[in-house]
Amino acid sequence: MNKTAIIEKTKEHVQSILIHHDASHDWWHIERVWRMACYLAEKEQANLFVVELAALLHDIDDWKFNQGNAILKTKSWLVHLQIPQNMVNQVCHIVENVTFKGNLVQTHSSKSIEEAVVQDADRLDAIGAIGIARTFSYGGYKKRPLYDPAIAPAQHKTFEEYKKSESTTLNHFYEKLFLLKDKMNTNTAKKIAEERHAFMERFVSQFMCEWDFKEK
Ligand code: NI
Repeated sequence: MNKTAIIEKTKEHVQSILIHHDASHDWWHIERVWRMACYLAEKEQANLFVVELAALLHDIDDWKFNQGNAILKTKSWLVHLQIPQNMVNQVCHIVENVTFKGNLVQTHSSKSIEEAVVQDADRLDAIGAIGIARTFSYGGYKKRPLYDPAIAPAQHKTFEEYKKSESTTLNHFYEKLFLLKDKMNTNTAKKIAEERHAFMERFVSQFMCEWDFKEK
């Protein structure tokens, strides 16, 4: 199979897996991350094929929806496609490391440019107007309150703590979304993140104004 056919088959495979997912992690999230990853790959001169495969497969083993943190589905799909072993390892390594695991959790520091690009693309889709929309969609899926003045945002030291956290959707901005701008790997993504970050700040400040309504 040539590369174009592999990407097309992978796209169909991912679409069929994510068909019943809520809007925070549905096919359209993957499609946006895939497009952004291609854009970043070109700008940052990353291997496009590896980036595309990792972007397309990055959420089919998502811990938020699966039990555990395995990448079984990703690996078996790549093996099924008869991708060379070193590339299977490369894509699996990216997929395993792309997910945000809590603010204080140490992650490995030496990243390939392909990993950097896919991670940035996924993080860019978590911020800005779409990031806000996805966050409330996920909060609805988890039946979280929009906001609760009694619950303060937390800093999660371990991935276990982050997974278990029962917070509000508004706190998620402080626990994750506002931190992403400074965690972008590539300069291209850093630039895109700025406007998206500023928009979220405006949103949260308007939200709080309305919550604490006072006649002017
Ligand atoms: Ni994702």
